[in-house]
Amino acid sequence: MHQLHDPSLLKTLSYINGSWHASDSQIEVTNPATGELVSKVSNAGVEETTLAVKAAKKAFSTWSKKPANERASLLRKWFDLMMENQEDLGRILTLEQGKPLAEAKGEIAYGAAFIEWFAEESKRVYGDTIPAPSGDKRIIVIKQPIGVVAAITPWNFPNAMIARKAAAALAAGCSFVVRPATQTPLSALAMAELAQRAGIPAGVFNVVVGEDARGIGKVLTEHPDIAKFTFTGSTQVGKALISQCASTVKKVSMELGGNAPFIVFNDADIDAAVAGALVSKYRNAGQTCVCTNRILVQRDVLEQFTEKFTEAVKGLQMGNGLTDGVDVGPMISKQAVADVVRLVNASIDQGATVVLGNNDKSLGENFLSPTILTNVTNDMPIAHQEIFGPVTPIIAFDDEEEAISIANDTEFGLAAYFYSRDIGRIWRVGEALEYGMVGVNEGLISNAAAPFGGMKQSGNGREGSKYGLDDYLEIKYLCMGGLDK
Ligand code: SIN
Repeated sequence: MHQLHDPSLLKTLSYINGSWHASDSQIEVTNPATGELVSKVSNAGVEETTLAVKAAKKAFSTWSKKPANERASLLRKWFDLMMENQEDLGRILTLEQGKPLAEAKGEIAYGAAFIEWFAEESKRVYGDTIPAPSGDKRIIVIKQPIGVVAAITPWNFPNAMIARKAAAALAAGCSFVVRPATQTPLSALAMAELAQRAGIPAGVFNVVVGEDARGIGKVLTEHPDIAKFTFTGSTQVGKALISQCASTVKKVSMELGGNAPFIVFNDADIDAAVAGALVSKYRNAGQTCVCTNRILVQRDVLEQFTEKFTEAVKGLQMGNGLTDGVDVGPMISKQAVADVVRLVNASIDQGATVVLGNNDKSLGENFLSPTILTNVTNDMPIAHQEIFGPVTPIIAFDDEEEAISIANDTEFGLAAYFYSRDIGRIWRVGEALEYGMVGVNEGLISNAAAPFGGMKQSGNGREGSKYGLDDYLEIKYLCMGGLDK
């Protein structure tokens, strides 16, 4: 039906304790590019979520005791299956999320890379011995899986945001229950199908799809059998979930909103900066937490940069992600478009100028043409709020100090980017930016080997890298006494 090589990857039921669960009602998954129905998925609720938590609790007792190399080889099989099915998984992702097929296949490889990475890291959960303060004692530190992990994941990366949490959790020896976004459940369910084929035991990886965000969220944040909760999404929702987790003092990690500055200094390679800004801003139609939110350009190169950047953005082709050559797909919904347009209009009212962009709706109401605004100041709504759409505000600055001050003038601290050729400036600015991730002469910074995560109200914890397992491990100290007898 959807031109899949393997149509059995299109699953429509929640995956709990190694089997597929039907519920009474259904959720419609539609293609944001066309509005067409892609599939109907069973609508699970509190009852199914509780079942999944129980299954995960039971599975934890055996999964956590499996030798790391056995867990690693199952994860490795899961990785292999994801890559073998990259084309189909990419197509499913484009159908439900909208991003161009090449980008969707890139996301499959990106997500799979976390599974491969953590399969390898699972064998390196080392402990410590510490010199004791007295001769009759020894201090040993071991690391143990924290327990059942619950996750809520967003629609903008329907595969990779699950992969990078689940892979770390499973590698550490934890079991996992995820509620994916209801706009994009098919990618999550296809991952479950492949986890099952890889031989990951029943109850270790569970996917509960359901519209009852409040009810399911309450189970996942308050159930006493869950030890750790992890979320990727907005800061506002993240704060509410953190407070729900307080009742059982769960360990939390949060990947929340961003407001990434992209700074172009007057010593930058302008062509490289244009290329970096293009990929950083227009990836996934501007709908990523690490997307450039504001471009800050030093006044003496403002005209040059703006002209070149505008020309480059004009070259982007917008359309259905399944059409060859498309660079920018639809936004996730009509509401998402309206929210961005409201920000643009409020900023125009305050003096911003539109140098590129129009209201062409010929492709459909979920499309917003790539837009550039100049004469923007940092107090305008477009610079202060997370845009999450294909709109670039450009702000002028005079010197390094001003650039840093504008860049840090936000409650967010996820990703920042800057372009400079001056080694002293690179160190000064790199250290001064209050962000968890900084791209230096680079617009695309995400990969499995690097620690992804934010500061300030952009969240806590790190995903990927050698640090990524820590969020799923407890440190236990064994004090061995009486050794002098
Ligand atoms: C996100 O938008 O939250 C994830 C982006 C990425 O992994 O690069």
